[in-house]
Amino acid sequence: MLLMVLIILSTLPIFSYADEGKQLYMKYNCSGCHSPYERRTGPSFKEISQRYGTSQKAIEKVAKLIIKPNPSNWPGFAYMPPYNIPYEEALKLAEYVLIHSQKEKKKEKNLNSLPSSEFF
Ligand code: HEC
Repeated sequence: MLLMVLIILSTLPIFSYADEGKQLYMKYNCSGCHSPYERRTGPSFKEISQRYGTSQKAIEKVAKLIIKPNPSNWPGFAYMPPYNIPYEEALKLAEYVLIHSQKEKKKEKNLNSLPSSEFF
């Protein structure tokens, strides 16, 4: 049952939207300084997601911060370079940072726990 739900979910358009964010994340090399769950040069997306949440407002706020970072938000870190990208792309990136990057991990977890919770 859970498997079916996962299969159906993965065909929803929102998931290709999520992929777009991830593609931009790769394309712009955000991964050079960020990872979904670990601190690198920049804070992990988990920390960022926990700070701002996952609302539409949060997505818009973070999109603006990607274009024009505010290093005083993260004392102790180096400065993130500003990204001169279209707002539309920044929104997709922000959505990836706050929501989809975190779901990737949860999905893995769900799959790992599938046999015990669902079949036995
Ligand atoms: C050269 C390293 C570097 C790269 C490349 C980089 N970042 Fe950052 N990022 C940082 C650092 C350092 C911070 C924390 C300090 C700051 O905000 O300036 C940060 C902070 C952030 C924040 C939190 C902003 C805030 O004010 O709360 C977001 C969101 C973010 N990065 C997303 C991205 C995305 C998306 C990309 C790719 C388009 C990217 N970063 C590329 C280093 C980097």
